[in-house]
Amino acid sequence: MELGDKVVYQIYPKSFYDSNDDGIGDIKGITMKLEYLSGHGIDLIWLNPFFVSPQNDNGYDIADYYEIDKTFGTMKDVEELIAKASGYGIGLMFDMVLNHTSTEHEWFKKALSGDQYYKDFYFFKKGEGANPPTNWESKYGGSCWEYVEEFDEYYLHLFDKTQADLNWDNPDVRKEMANIVNFWIDKGVKGFRFDVINLISKDSFEDDFEGVGKRFYTDGINVGPYLHELGERSFNRYDDIMTVGEMSATSIEKCTYYTNPENKILGTTFNFHHLKVDYQNNEKWTLAQFDFHELKQLFHSWQTGMQENNGWSALFYNCHDQPRAISRFGDDKNYPYESATMLATSIHLQRGTPYIYYGEEIGMTNNYFETIEQYRDVESLNYYEIMKRQGIKENKIIEILQAKSRDNGRSPMQWDDGLNSGFSRVKPWLEINKNYKSVNQETAINSGDSIYHYYRKLIALRKKSDLIQNGSYQPLLENHDSVYAYKRCDSQGELIVLCNFYGEKSVVDIDLTDYRIILGNYASSSVLQDHTMQEFETVVLLKNHG
Ligand code: GLC
Ligand code: CA
Repeated sequence: MELGDKVVYQIYPKSFYDSNDDGIGDIKGITMKLEYLSGHGIDLIWLNPFFVSPQNDNGYDIADYYEIDKTFGTMKDVEELIAKASGYGIGLMFDMVLNHTSTEHEWFKKALSGDQYYKDFYFFKKGEGANPPTNWESKYGGSCWEYVEEFDEYYLHLFDKTQADLNWDNPDVRKEMANIVNFWIDKGVKGFRFDVINLISKDSFEDDFEGVGKRFYTDGINVGPYLHELGERSFNRYDDIMTVGEMSATSIEKCTYYTNPENKILGTTFNFHHLKVDYQNNEKWTLAQFDFHELKQLFHSWQTGMQENNGWSALFYNCHDQPRAISRFGDDKNYPYESATMLATSIHLQRGTPYIYYGEEIGMTNNYFETIEQYRDVESLNYYEIMKRQGIKENKIIEILQAKSRDNGRSPMQWDDGLNSGFSRVKPWLEINKNYKSVNQETAINSGDSIYHYYRKLIALRKKSDLIQNGSYQPLLENHDSVYAYKRCDSQGELIVLCNFYGEKSVVDIDLTDYRIILGNYASSSVLQDHTMQEFETVVLLKNHG
């Protein structure tokens, strides 16, 4: 299927719109906002999981893949959303959390009751003396093995202890996985996002003395074959279903292998390397300025590497696991419009399929919560405790959470400047960002030169340009200290994208003869006259071949 012309919009259902006044966003709420969504020019809406779940990891701990959690609505609501969205030409992309189930899933419950058939759905292993089977750490801190006294065995959970890893080496598990995907295809779902899908093949269970275990279970030998098999049984039997795999700590080689159409595995992949450039010594829970040169280098190498081997990328900065990019790489206080539009341009015109995360299009920022009580996310709460035990001072921890917590990207959509920002009539499950009086959808739509309207232009540009959809990518100004730049080329023409990542003027030494500006975030740019770029300025220039 054609991927270059698609744009995906991601919705965190819990935080989009609350239709029944319980403080939690729901499926009906999304249906009610379809008209707004269709105004963006998007093709698909990816919804984070809303299946039956105890919600220990906000729905990434699924207890029933075939039923809707009451908090979010009913099957009828979902069917209605699919049908109405289709009326707007928008497909739904569902989130398949197939690496693990909730420990409340009936398979796990049967396993715990001693049923061997279901024990084989998971990884139950004997310990090493008094120690767990391996020394691997869970992604949310602590050991990734949980002891079960009745069996004197441990089960594997790479995430929370209520998220037990499924054993994909078991053919019966793989059949169940295909059944789930097919069930949703039959309901009319047009896309699938596969959660941490490169962790489904555990190569070997050995202690890791160099790291936290990742290398033994990431991009394992059977990820490709298992996904190929899943595709043959489900999504790859159709030519209108888009897929994207979430790849944890992966490589360019692996992602080209997963997405090269010849291999019939996945359509696209998410990778996260560019979102670790503000980690200190590879550690997320630290404070550091982002490394601009590293960011550029990663964009260039992934873009050129994926294209050389005919792979396809998902393009994004924001999602439910990341703080808001405007606060992270931009300046949400002094240059909100300039930095948000510059960041959007920097990735939307790359080679791949862009994703927009709800609220990004109106400039939603990090929350800057001041107390731990305001946080909800299991990872943030765990790391709060871990950092406390490490002796880090409370105010420092809060500062780190303000920069790193996933809750930064999960606060309710800011619809207007009224009560609870129009999200709900009661207190929302997670606080509304204090800036909702000025940052909200109503204001954004009504002002002609808002971030929102810039996003629409950006999407419209992709839609009508084969060069943007399919042209090649070429790095420019690789050593420049503040400008990220690239060129897209095809037989018709050449496009140059210039992005000044800083709140200071900058000069670009680049030949722009015969180019004209087709998009930019300043009313007037002087880049063609004297090659100067203004604070957080972005400019897109086009030259047609004669
Ligand atoms: C992915 C999801 C994240 C979730 C984790 C475990 O990284 O995006 O939100 O916590 O997988 O399922
Ligand atoms: Ca609700």
